Amino acid sequence: MATNEDLFKKIISHSKEYGYVFPSSEIYDGLSAVYDYGPFGVELKNNIKEFWWKSMVQYHENIVGLDSAIFMHPTVWKASGHVDAFSDPMIDNKDSKKRYRADVLVEDNVQKIEDKIQKEVEKARQRFGETFDEQMYRTTNPRVMENQAKIDTIKKRFYASLEKNDLADVKALIEELGIVCPVSGTKNWTDVRQFNLMFSTQMGSVNEDANEIFLRPETAQGIFVNFLNVQKSARMKIPFGIAQIGKAFRNEIVARQFLFRMREFEQMEMQFFVKPGEELEWFSYWKQERMKWHLSLGIPAEKYRFHDHDKLAHYANAATDIEFEFPIGFKEIEGIHSRTDFDLSAHQKFSGRKIQYFDQEKNEGFVPYVVETSIGLDRTFLAVLSNAYREEKLEDGSERVVLSLPAILAPIKVAILPLIKKDGLPEKAREIMDVLKYRYRCFYEEKDTIGRRYRRMDALGTPYGITIDHQTLQDNTVTIRDRDTMLQERIPVDGISEILGKKIAPIS
Ligand code: GAP
Repeated sequence: MATNEDLFKKIISHSKEYGYVFPSSEIYDGLSAVYDYGPFGVELKNNIKEFWWKSMVQYHENIVGLDSAIFMHPTVWKASGHVDAFSDPMIDNKDSKKRYRADVLVEDNVQKIEDKIQKEVEKARQRFGETFDEQMYRTTNPRVMENQAKIDTIKKRFYASLEKNDLADVKALIEELGIVCPVSGTKNWTDVRQFNLMFSTQMGSVNEDANEIFLRPETAQGIFVNFLNVQKSARMKIPFGIAQIGKAFRNEIVARQFLFRMREFEQMEMQFFVKPGEELEWFSYWKQERMKWHLSLGIPAEKYRFHDHDKLAHYANAATDIEFEFPIGFKEIEGIHSRTDFDLSAHQKFSGRKIQYFDQEKNEGFVPYVVETSIGLDRTFLAVLSNAYREEKLEDGSERVVLSLPAILAPIKVAILPLIKKDGLPEKAREIMDVLKYRYRCFYEEKDTIGRRYRRMDALGTPYGITIDHQTLQDNTVTIRDRDTMLQERIPVDGISEILGKKIAPIS
C-alpha cells in the first residue's frame, strides 16, 4: 500500500503526464512554488470556478460579483495592516542555511505529541474492544493526560509569545523543545525574525516619482475599497455580499507542497456585509453553507473538518478553517472569518472618505460588519484531484489508474471513440461529435485499441465514452461507457445529448 508521501508524488507526476499541472518555466529547471495549468488543468480549474461562482452569485440574489485590479494604491495595504503585520516569524538553521516558519516547527512538534496520544488511544481501543470509551480514557490515562498537558502548555506559551511579539521567547521555546533542523539535524538556530510576505514592485518611471506598489496578497481588499461603488451601482441592501475570483501573491517561505502552498495562486472570496451585532449569526450561517458546498462536490464528509481558531487575528471576532485531508494531512482549504468593521473603518480613516451604509428605516448611517468566506482555488483543485486519484486492480488481473472526478468538474465530459479506423466509423463518429461539441467538451480519439483508449480516458478522468461500432451504422445506436463502473449500455444516437445532460447534472 502506498504511503501518503508516495501517493502525493504519484498525483504530482500524474498531473504532469496527463496535462493538468506543469512546473513553471520547467525548461529552466522551474521556479519554486509556481505552477502552470495544462490543457486539462485549465478546464478543471475553470469548472471549479464556475461551480463556485454559480453557487455564490447566481443562486444568491443578494450576492454580486466583482473583478478588481491586482495593483492597488499602496495605502490600501497600510490601512489593511498588511504592511505592518502580514509577516511570518522565521528562523534559520545556521548549518543547513535553511529557513523555516517558527510556528510550523512548533506545530510539527505538537503534532508528534498528538500522534503519540493517538497511538496510545488506538492500542487501548483494540485492547478493550466495543466497551472502549475514548473520552473517559483520554481524561483518566496518566500518560495521555501528561502528553495532553504538555501540548496545552506549549500552545499557551507559544500563542502568548506571538501575541506580545516576543520573538526571543519563541526561539527559547524552539530550543527548549529540542527541535532540530530536518536537513542538518542540528539545533544551531538564528534569532527569530518577522518576514513580510508581500511582493513589491515599482510603478512609474525609474526615478524618484516611482512608487513602491504591492502584488495583492488577498483579493478581499479590492472588495472593501469598492464597497460604495458596488452597493450604490447595484442598489444592494444589507445584508448583501460581493464575490470575486482572482490571483493573489505571497512570498511563502515553506513552499514545497505543490499546489498547496504557492507563491502565485487564486482565491475565491466573498465578503458579506451585515448589520453590527448580527455578524455572529451570519458567521454560523456561512460556516454551514460553505461546508455544504464542499460536500456537494461529492467528496466524503470524513475528509473535512472544522478547525475553530483559538487565537484570533486582531480584526476578527470569530474564525474557523475548513480543513481537508490532503495526502499531506488535514490542512486548511478555506477560511471563514467574522472581520467586524475593521477593514471598512480602516479604509474610511486612511482615505478620509465616509464609507457607510445608510439605513433608510432608522435614517442613520453605519459602517457594516463583514463575514468573509475565502477559499483557495488551487487547494480546491488539489483536493478534488487527490480525492479522485485511484489505482485499481481489475477482475482480469490488469491494473488501471482512474481519476474519478465529479462529472460536473471533469475537463472532458465525453470521449468519442470509433471502434476501428475504417468502414465509415470515423465519419459517423465525427458527425456525432459535431452535434455534441456545442454542449459538452468532447475528445475525439481513433488511435490505438479501444481498450487502451478507455484506459487513457480513465486516467484523464473522462466520465463517459461513446463508442461507435458497426451496429451504429445499421441502427443508429452507440454504447455509452461509465468510467467508474466500466459498464456499457446501448443508447440511440438521438438520445445521447439528453442522457449525458442527466448524468452530468450537478450533485445537489
Ligand atoms: N482574505 C482572507 C485570506 O486571504 P487566508 O486564510 O490567508 O485568508 C484564504 O487565505 C485561502 O487562500 C486559504 O484557505 C487557502 O485555501 C488559500 N491560500 C492562502 N495562501 C495560499 C498559498 N500560498 N497557496 C495556495 N493557496 C493559498
